[in-house]
Amino acid sequence: MAIDLIAPSILSADFARLGEEVDNVLAAGADIVHFDVMDNHYVPNLTIGPLVCEALRKHGVTAPIDVHLMVKPVDRIIPDFAAAGASYITFHPEASEHVDRTLQLIRNEGCKAGLVFNPATPLTYLDYVLDKVDMILLMSVNPGFGGQSFIPSALDKLSEVREIIDDSGFDIRLEIDGGVKADNIAEIKAAGADTFVSGSGIFGKAKDSDPHRYDSIIGQMR
Ligand code: DX5
Ligand code: ZN
Repeated sequence: MAIDLIAPSILSADFARLGEEVDNVLAAGADIVHFDVMDNHYVPNLTIGPLVCEALRKHGVTAPIDVHLMVKPVDRIIPDFAAAGASYITFHPEASEHVDRTLQLIRNEGCKAGLVFNPATPLTYLDYVLDKVDMILLMSVNPGFGGQSFIPSALDKLSEVREIIDDSGFDIRLEIDGGVKADNIAEIKAAGADTFVSGSGIFGKAKDSDPHRYDSIIGQMR
């Protein structure tokens, strides 16, 4: 299994001090930055776009940026995110008219491509595109908001996808997103995930006054 990656979701960070927040979680040992893009159309919330991704790069963030697109349509925003410094770009197959084309577009733009599965979305979208996928992201909440509870059926789904990946022989990361905390990360890892998004589980725990406020929570997740 690949080395585990911790991916703080900046959705729960203090947006007024975003650069500092990202610097602090990376200094505390986080591996990649999970960047939630919501459009008030595919999901009922509105967040951040390519300008903020670019701003993080200009601020000096060199860690991979994992852009989770919860937008519809998908394709027209992909080149903008690639230009803004995205490393991974994942999207929900229901939000794309042509899933194979969108996956190819992401790779053609020089990024790693991924598909995201909502709790009730079947895995059949994977049947013909495994060779075009660098990451599979399983949602363990319904997308749109941070701070929701982990939906337990995601554990069986993780095991199913772990088997699909291992049988395929492709180098594909298996990411989990939603309700991941220090106290459930072990069972989520045991089910097969290797990349762990956590928003409120990391940013929600901190005391603002402590300069090393994320060290212990990320340490507990390892
Ligand atoms: C939800 C987002 C998540 C969210 C996770 O739609 O995709 O990345 O920020 O937040 P927590 O970890 O608080 O469930
Ligand atoms: Zn996300």
